[in-house]
Amino acid sequence: MTAVQTRPLTVTEAIESRRSIRRFQPEPMNQDDLREILRLASLAPTANNVQPTRFAVVQNPELQAKLQEAAYGQSQVTSAPAVIVVYSDMEDVLQTAEETVHPGMGEEQIKTRAERLRQSFAGQDVAQRGQWGLTQANIAFGFLMLAARGLGYDTVPMLGFDPQKVRELLGLPDHVQFAGMLPIGKRAEEGFPHHRHSVERVTTFY
Ligand SMILES: Cc1cc2nc3c(=O)[nH]c(=O)nc-3n(C[C@H](O)[C@H](O)[C@H](O)COP(=O)(O)O)c2cc1C
Repeated sequence: MTAVQTRPLTVTEAIESRRSIRRFQPEPMNQDDLREILRLASLAPTANNVQPTRFAVVQNPELQAKLQEAAYGQSQVTSAPAVIVVYSDMEDVLQTAEETVHPGMGEEQIKTRAERLRQSFAGQDVAQRGQWGLTQANIAFGFLMLAARGLGYDTVPMLGFDPQKVRELLGLPDHVQFAGMLPIGKRAEEGFPHHRHSVERVTTFY
């Protein structure tokens, strides 16, 4: 078992020690740590700061059992003390566009900029802007994994689930797009060593 962690990991340490963990210790999540991990993930950047990312936090064994079913039986969904579902909701962004403008801008600017934001997406249909929002939520999904690892937690990113079933279970509208599902807790296994292409294999320097 890993030693007790007494300080947040550096970014480098978090990246190097993160690996997919599918078996977790049974203790519940520390709720302060959970909040802090979500706060850190919320600091992920988004284009024009539109902030379409939303988090659904499930710490309920019955609901987790249903999510596991929607995830084709993958056992990590019930092994973890919590599951964070990360999704983007661009329709909510457009309905509440004023909230994305910095409050320091003043009332007039907030109105103008919110309207401009709505206009900029008016030419796209719900699916197109859903796709756009998803590219933003994916960044937060990455931040979330590393924030968790930095505070001594482990995760496994998951896309192996039926999105429509998960929408139904969480009471989410049809237009939301999932970055993924993230079981989170303390590891009860070590996971696999990283196997990755070399930098040379995946990089072209110009
Ligand atoms: C977007 C995404 C979706 C994934 N979906 C699943 C999944 O449904 N089930 C699972 O067991 N692992 C899933 N994985 C985990 C990958 O298999 C794992 O990240 C990869 O093999 C590299 O291993 P590592 O995370 O330990 O470095 C997913 C990973 C990503 C990034």
